[in-house]
Amino acid sequence: MDGFGARVGLALELRARRIHDRLHRHHPDSAVHSLRVAEITMGMWRTAPDLLGSVETALLGSLLHDVGKLCVPREILASPHLLTWEERAVMSTHAAQGAEMLLAMGFPEAIAAVARCHHARWAGGGYPFSGSARRLPPIVRAVAVADAFDAMTDPGREHRPPLGRREALREVAACAGTHFDPVAAAILADSLVRPAEDQTWRAPAMRSFWPSPAARADLATVH
Ligand SMILES: [Fe+2]
Ligand SMILES: [Fe+2]
Repeated sequence: MDGFGARVGLALELRARRIHDRLHRHHPDSAVHSLRVAEITMGMWRTAPDLLGSVETALLGSLLHDVGKLCVPREILASPHLLTWEERAVMSTHAAQGAEMLLAMGFPEAIAAVARCHHARWAGGGYPFSGSARRLPPIVRAVAVADAFDAMTDPGREHRPPLGRREALREVAACAGTHFDPVAAAILADSLVRPAEDQTWRAPAMRSFWPSPAARADLATVH
Protein backbone atom coordinates (compact mmCIF):
# COMPACT_ATOMS: atom_id res chain seq x y z
CA MET A 1 0.00 0.00 0.00
CA ASP A 2 1.08 3.57 -0.61
CA GLY A 3 3.56 4.78 1.96
CA PHE A 4 2.94 1.91 4.37
CA GLY A 5 6.59 1.48 5.27
CA ALA A 6 7.40 5.15 4.97
CA ARG A 7 4.54 6.58 6.96
CA VAL A 8 3.85 4.06 9.68
CA GLY A 9 6.46 3.72 12.41
CA LEU A 10 8.43 0.51 11.92
CA ALA A 11 7.74 -0.74 15.42
CA LEU A 12 4.00 -0.31 15.06
CA GLU A 13 4.05 -1.87 11.61
CA LEU A 14 5.83 -4.95 12.95
CA ARG A 15 3.47 -5.15 15.92
CA ALA A 16 0.48 -4.83 13.60
CA ARG A 17 1.76 -7.62 11.39
CA ARG A 18 2.49 -9.84 14.38
CA ILE A 19 -0.90 -9.37 15.95
CA HIS A 20 -2.65 -9.87 12.62
CA ASP A 21 -0.65 -13.08 12.13
CA ARG A 22 -1.76 -14.21 15.59
CA LEU A 23 -5.37 -13.55 14.65
CA HIS A 24 -4.84 -15.54 11.45
CA ARG A 25 -3.57 -18.51 13.44
CA HIS A 26 -6.46 -18.21 15.91
CA HIS A 27 -9.27 -17.77 13.39
CA PRO A 28 -8.26 -17.34 9.73
CA ASP A 29 -11.67 -16.02 8.63
CA SER A 30 -11.45 -13.12 11.08
CA ALA A 31 -7.98 -12.20 9.81
CA VAL A 32 -9.07 -12.27 6.16
CA HIS A 33 -12.19 -10.27 7.04
CA SER A 34 -9.90 -7.70 8.68
CA LEU A 35 -7.83 -7.41 5.50
CA ARG A 36 -10.96 -6.81 3.44
CA VAL A 37 -12.22 -4.22 5.92
CA ALA A 38 -8.84 -2.48 5.64
CA GLU A 39 -9.14 -2.50 1.84
CA ILE A 40 -12.65 -1.07 1.95
CA THR A 41 -11.65 1.53 4.54
CA MET A 42 -8.66 2.64 2.49
CA GLY A 43 -10.92 3.07 -0.50
CA MET A 44 -13.10 5.29 1.65
CA TRP A 45 -10.04 7.18 2.90
CA ARG A 46 -8.93 7.84 -0.67
CA THR A 47 -12.39 9.19 -1.37
CA ALA A 48 -12.53 11.53 1.64
CA PRO A 49 -9.02 11.93 3.10
CA ASP A 50 -9.66 15.34 4.62
CA LEU A 51 -12.66 14.08 6.57
CA LEU A 52 -11.24 10.71 7.61
CA GLY A 53 -7.90 12.10 8.80
CA SER A 54 -4.68 10.21 9.47
CA VAL A 55 -3.94 7.47 6.92
CA GLU A 56 -2.06 5.50 9.60
CA THR A 57 -5.12 5.46 11.85
CA ALA A 58 -7.34 4.49 8.94
CA LEU A 59 -5.08 1.63 7.88
CA LEU A 60 -4.10 0.20 11.25
CA GLY A 61 -7.44 0.90 12.91
CA SER A 62 -9.32 -1.00 10.21
CA LEU A 63 -6.76 -3.82 9.95
CA LEU A 64 -6.77 -4.34 13.72
CA HIS A 65 -10.42 -3.55 14.51
CA ASP A 66 -11.23 -7.18 15.43
CA VAL A 67 -7.99 -8.23 17.18
CA GLY A 68 -10.00 -8.63 20.38
CA LYS A 69 -11.32 -11.83 18.81
CA LEU A 70 -8.03 -13.34 19.99
CA CYS A 71 -9.74 -13.34 23.39
CA VAL A 72 -12.85 -15.14 22.08
CA PRO A 73 -12.64 -18.94 22.02
CA ARG A 74 -12.22 -20.41 18.55
CA GLU A 75 -15.25 -22.63 19.14
CA ILE A 76 -17.44 -19.54 19.41
CA LEU A 77 -15.87 -17.75 16.45
CA ALA A 78 -16.28 -20.82 14.25
CA SER A 79 -19.56 -22.06 15.67
CA PRO A 80 -21.75 -23.62 12.98
CA HIS A 81 -24.79 -22.79 15.12
CA LEU A 82 -26.53 -19.58 16.00
CA LEU A 83 -24.78 -18.25 19.08
CA THR A 84 -26.52 -18.54 22.41
CA TRP A 85 -27.09 -15.45 24.52
CA GLU A 86 -24.05 -16.36 26.64
CA GLU A 87 -21.87 -16.91 23.57
CA ARG A 88 -22.95 -13.58 22.10
CA ALA A 89 -22.02 -11.92 25.37
CA VAL A 90 -18.52 -13.43 25.13
CA MET A 91 -18.26 -12.38 21.46
CA SER A 92 -19.24 -8.83 22.27
CA THR A 93 -16.24 -8.46 24.58
CA HIS A 94 -13.93 -8.41 21.55
CA ALA A 95 -14.33 -4.68 20.99
CA ALA A 96 -13.19 -3.55 24.44
CA GLN A 97 -10.61 -6.36 24.70
CA GLY A 98 -9.11 -5.38 21.36
CA ALA A 99 -8.74 -1.75 22.44
CA GLU A 100 -7.01 -2.81 25.68
CA MET A 101 -4.63 -5.09 23.78
CA LEU A 102 -3.72 -2.35 21.31
CA LEU A 103 -3.08 0.21 24.06
CA ALA A 104 -0.95 -2.32 25.96
CA MET A 105 1.10 -2.87 22.78
CA GLY A 106 1.77 0.85 22.41
CA PHE A 107 -0.71 1.74 19.68
CA PRO A 108 -2.16 5.26 19.96
CA GLU A 109 -5.60 5.84 21.42
CA ALA A 110 -6.95 6.86 17.99
CA ILE A 111 -6.28 3.33 16.69
CA ALA A 112 -7.55 1.65 19.87
CA ALA A 113 -10.74 3.74 19.58
CA VAL A 114 -11.52 2.10 16.24
CA ALA A 115 -11.35 -1.34 17.86
CA ARG A 116 -13.34 -0.19 20.91
CA CYS A 117 -16.15 1.59 19.06
CA HIS A 118 -16.59 -0.10 15.66
CA HIS A 119 -19.89 -1.59 16.86
CA ALA A 120 -21.26 1.78 17.99
CA ARG A 121 -24.40 2.94 16.19
CA TRP A 122 -25.30 6.36 14.85
CA ALA A 123 -28.49 6.48 16.92
CA GLY A 124 -26.94 4.71 19.92
CA GLY A 125 -27.47 1.23 21.25
CA GLY A 126 -24.26 -0.44 20.06
CA TYR A 127 -21.56 -1.98 22.26
CA PRO A 128 -19.55 -1.40 24.37
CA PHE A 129 -20.12 2.27 23.52
CA SER A 130 -23.90 2.59 23.70
CA GLY A 131 -24.07 6.34 23.05
CA SER A 132 -24.52 7.95 19.66
CA ALA A 133 -21.67 7.38 17.23
CA ARG A 134 -21.98 11.08 16.34
CA ARG A 135 -19.59 11.69 19.22
CA LEU A 136 -16.93 9.41 17.71
CA PRO A 137 -14.20 10.34 15.22
CA PRO A 138 -15.23 10.00 11.53
CA ILE A 139 -12.75 7.16 10.94
CA VAL A 140 -14.49 5.04 13.59
CA ARG A 141 -17.82 5.62 11.83
CA ALA A 142 -16.22 4.78 8.49
CA VAL A 143 -14.79 1.48 9.74
CA ALA A 144 -18.21 0.61 11.19
CA VAL A 145 -19.69 0.92 7.70
CA ALA A 146 -16.82 -0.96 6.02
CA ASP A 147 -17.10 -3.73 8.64
CA ALA A 148 -20.85 -4.14 8.12
CA PHE A 149 -20.56 -4.04 4.32
CA ASP A 150 -17.95 -6.79 4.38
CA ALA A 151 -20.01 -8.89 6.81
CA MET A 152 -23.07 -8.57 4.53
CA THR A 153 -21.20 -9.59 1.39
CA ASP A 154 -18.97 -12.29 2.93
CA PRO A 155 -19.85 -15.68 1.41
CA GLY A 156 -18.11 -17.46 4.27
CA ARG A 157 -20.51 -16.42 7.03
CA GLU A 158 -22.57 -19.08 8.74
CA HIS A 159 -26.33 -18.90 9.10
CA ARG A 160 -27.19 -16.65 6.17
CA PRO A 161 -26.42 -16.26 2.47
CA PRO A 162 -24.30 -13.30 1.41
CA LEU A 163 -25.86 -10.22 -0.14
CA GLY A 164 -24.59 -8.97 -3.48
CA ARG A 165 -22.73 -5.67 -3.37
CA ARG A 166 -25.76 -3.83 -4.75
CA GLU A 167 -28.10 -5.27 -2.09
CA ALA A 168 -25.55 -4.62 0.64
CA LEU A 169 -25.14 -1.02 -0.50
CA ARG A 170 -28.92 -0.60 -0.42
CA GLU A 171 -28.97 -2.05 3.10
CA VAL A 172 -26.25 0.35 4.24
CA ALA A 173 -28.18 3.26 2.70
CA ALA A 174 -31.40 2.09 4.37
CA CYS A 175 -29.67 2.02 7.76
CA ALA A 176 -27.94 5.40 7.32
CA GLY A 177 -29.10 7.73 10.06
CA THR A 178 -30.09 4.91 12.40
CA HIS A 179 -27.32 2.34 12.44
CA PHE A 180 -24.72 4.10 10.29
CA ASP A 181 -23.33 7.59 9.85
CA PRO A 182 -25.04 8.93 6.69
CA VAL A 183 -21.80 10.59 5.56
CA ALA A 184 -19.80 7.38 6.01
CA ALA A 185 -22.47 5.46 4.07
CA ALA A 186 -22.21 7.98 1.21
CA ILE A 187 -18.41 7.75 1.23
CA LEU A 188 -18.60 3.96 0.95
CA ALA A 189 -20.95 4.24 -2.03
CA ASP A 190 -18.65 6.79 -3.71
CA SER A 191 -15.55 4.72 -3.04
CA LEU A 192 -16.99 1.61 -4.66
CA VAL A 193 -17.66 3.37 -7.95
CA ARG A 194 -14.29 5.07 -8.26
CA PRO A 195 -12.41 3.93 -11.38
CA ALA A 196 -10.03 1.07 -10.72
CA GLU A 197 -7.05 3.09 -11.94
CA ASP A 198 -7.82 5.61 -9.22
CA GLN A 199 -7.41 2.96 -6.53
CA THR A 200 -3.64 2.58 -6.62
CA TRP A 201 -3.52 1.78 -2.93
CA ARG A 202 -5.11 -1.62 -3.45
CA ALA A 203 -3.14 -4.69 -2.49
CA PRO A 204 -2.70 -6.98 -5.52
CA ALA A 205 -4.19 -9.93 -3.64
CA MET A 206 -7.44 -8.03 -3.19
CA ARG A 207 -8.05 -7.07 -6.82
CA SER A 208 -10.75 -9.69 -7.23
CA PHE A 209 -12.74 -7.99 -4.47
CA TRP A 210 -13.29 -4.83 -6.43
CA PRO A 211 -16.19 -4.39 -8.83
CA SER A 212 -15.63 -4.54 -12.58
CA PRO A 213 -16.40 -1.35 -14.58
CA ALA A 214 -19.87 -2.73 -15.41
CA ALA A 215 -20.54 -3.58 -11.76
CA ARG A 216 -19.38 -0.10 -10.70
CA ALA A 217 -21.83 1.47 -13.12
CA ASP A 218 -24.57 -0.71 -11.62
CA LEU A 219 -23.60 0.25 -8.06
CA ALA A 220 -23.65 3.92 -9.00
CA THR A 221 -27.42 3.69 -9.51
CA VAL A 222 -28.04 2.66 -5.88
CA HIS A 223 -29.43 5.51 -3.82
FE1 LIG B 1 -16.14 -6.57 15.48
FE1 LIG C 1 -15.22 -6.93 11.93
